Amino acid sequence: MTKAPTARLDRLLANLGYGSRREVQTLIDLGVVLLDGAPLDDPGQRLAVTADLSARMTIEGAPLDPPPPLTLILHKPLGVVCSHKEAGRNVYELLPARWRRRNPVLSTIGRLDVDTTGLLLLTDDGGFLHRVISPKAHVAKRYLATLDRPLQGNEAALFASGELMLEGETAPLRPAVLEPLSATTAHLTIVEGRYHQVRRMFAAVGNHVVGLHRDRIGALDLPADLDPGRHRILKPEEQAPLFA
Ligand code: URA
Repeated sequence: MTKAPTARLDRLLANLGYGSRREVQTLIDLGVVLLDGAPLDDPGQRLAVTADLSARMTIEGAPLDPPPPLTLILHKPLGVVCSHKEAGRNVYELLPARWRRRNPVLSTIGRLDVDTTGLLLLTDDGGFLHRVISPKAHVAKRYLATLDRPLQGNEAALFASGELMLEGETAPLRPAVLEPLSATTAHLTIVEGRYHQVRRMFAAVGNHVVGLHRDRIGALDLPADLDPGRHRILKPEEQAPLFA
């Protein structure tokens, strides 16, 4: 069994976004930082950073925020961007304010366009992020596309061919699976994450995406009870299906 990392109490709380080291010191002095019901009074005390810490520790009566590694599943709503660099409201604003001050920071695993909805993962675990987005991992992402014009019937073969070259690119797309659901809706599963890939694939066959929703990554479905704008913690045992 690997040993849990340890951290100084004040650094742990500061890294979880509870405030500067000085602000955290004040919380400790006030006696509102409890472990197993007893106040902790030494900011330099080292604690084993285990997953059960949030069940054992309270700050002002509320359970400690989950320590890293933390992975979230979020239902991205329309109209929010995935990057701090883009203008407009971003997905990080949908999280509790304190979670935006964490170190290591939470980052989205890949991105969805501002007008794409659906399953978005965020994590502070760089190794995990890399495993999901690595081109070598070929993690499948399934989209529900709503189209402007009816499908013509030739799209599935072209998308599956591994020969479709998008404008401005030098390598063809890897094979993708199209499953028509109606004349103007289809599931499209891709294993890459090129810029605006799904929209550009349909543009390449003379169509136009009017609605795009990601409903699955690997074998992990967007939970039906997770409303747009809502998130929840993705438990470690829920992460394996991503690579199925
Ligand atoms: N492909 C797109 O075109 N947009 C997305 O948001 C995701 C995949």
